[in-house]
Amino acid sequence: MKHTDVKAILCEPELFFDKSVTVCGWIKSYRDSKNMAFIALNDGTTLPHLQVVIDKGAIQIPEGATRAGSSVKIDGVAVKSLNANQAIEVNAEKITLLGDCPADYPIQKAKTSLDFLRTLPHLRVRTNTFNAIFRVRSKLSYAIHRFFQERGYMYVHTPIITGSDCEGAGKIFKVTTIGYDPKYKSEEEYNAADFFGQSAGLTVSGQLEGEVMATAFGKIYTFGPTFRAENSNTTRHAAEFWQIEPEVAFAEIDDIIGIATEFIKFIIAEVLKECPEEISFLEKYYEKGLRAKLQKVVDDEFVRVEYTEAIEILKKSGKQFVYPVEWGCDLQTEHERYLTDVVYNKPVFVVNYPKDLKSFYMKQNPDGKTVAATDLLVPGVGEIIGCSEREADSKKLLQAIKDRGMKMSDYENYLDLRKFGTVPHSGFGLGLERILMYATGMGNIRDTIAFPRAKDELR
Ligand code: 4AD
Ligand code: MG
Repeated sequence: MKHTDVKAILCEPELFFDKSVTVCGWIKSYRDSKNMAFIALNDGTTLPHLQVVIDKGAIQIPEGATRAGSSVKIDGVAVKSLNANQAIEVNAEKITLLGDCPADYPIQKAKTSLDFLRTLPHLRVRTNTFNAIFRVRSKLSYAIHRFFQERGYMYVHTPIITGSDCEGAGKIFKVTTIGYDPKYKSEEEYNAADFFGQSAGLTVSGQLEGEVMATAFGKIYTFGPTFRAENSNTTRHAAEFWQIEPEVAFAEIDDIIGIATEFIKFIIAEVLKECPEEISFLEKYYEKGLRAKLQKVVDDEFVRVEYTEAIEILKKSGKQFVYPVEWGCDLQTEHERYLTDVVYNKPVFVVNYPKDLKSFYMKQNPDGKTVAATDLLVPGVGEIIGCSEREADSKKLLQAIKDRGMKMSDYENYLDLRKFGTVPHSGFGLGLERILMYATGMGNIRDTIAFPRAKDELR
């Protein structure tokens, strides 16, 4: 269907003045006056709507083309607008109704509650709010690829079906083609009869395969779906989310912290540059001061605090936490939020966690108690990045696998990486939806992914 994107017209109006145009889109609102009518038209290519002006005496308005939600094709002439809010509008010469939208269209009000919209994943994306969020998601994703591609990283694809548990947290969705049957005498026998001849699951992280690729290509990144059977029903956890996992050979913990810092600053700067209208909209309706907050991320240094020091700060805070604070405890959301929102009010790397809290693959520090691991915490959200130097010493790695009671045979290839030309290497994982929550001001992860999957939620 030959037509011009609304974005093209709104972005460069001077190219279209006094020219004939055809535009298509959905009616966002219809306003009637005595002789004239006005349609606010949006085709999804941009956040602002295009005003279509109708001389009621001169042209026929088809039944249905007056209803919000209906789709139309408009042939007309683009002209300078007299309205101060817009540079250009279209005087309609012909209106064709493409699809009528009856009165029971559930998306009626300009701003409907996010809770309500979550019940309509197939329709909520047509609202201004999701128009803004998903454009930020798209631009952010592009910026992520740009960051790595422009710095010589190879984009690699790691498997979705795996036989190992990278994070060792046991939050794996099982992949199977057969149901359990009492005829199997043991779990091993059941797994052996299954499709892969062993137990299989959806990946919780592409890291282990990412390390394989990094020990061949030096600098790699993955960007793909990740699955975790999170039983907790929180606003920050999804069962399916997108993770970006760079893995860098010849990089130690300080190097990877530097890369992660540069990376976050770059992608946030790109969002500010590429999505000014979206950020203004989100700031107006969802988070006051959003733009200044993001600009501060670009401009200010990130904080770096030792885990041990963070524990001291929390203990001295005088605050009654639900989860008591002691050296060795995992930082709960309330602790993270205290550090980011109250103490620092900017992104914070918490470095050198107790080894018992973290995964088997992290490099053990000489103190014998901690690992070279860091989480990047941001105000309002908490953890957005999990990062570490990897244990390059095969003996220590072997011991860590044993200590955790993990199945050695699943990690033989991984151990080979330490046997054949091992190198210091480090990497991190950024949750796309977590940084999107931060960049858009959304309080619930379900509003940053089009079709959220969570416990008892599969719409
Ligand atoms: O901290 P995590 O578990 O680290 C890893 O998976 C490492 N293998 C990463 C690496 O070093 N290559 O997860 C990394 C990030 C978290 O910081 C968070 O942003 C996000 O993934 N994440 C989730 N996002 C949404 N829903 C969930 N259930 C998430 N679990 C982790
Ligand atoms: Mg983590």
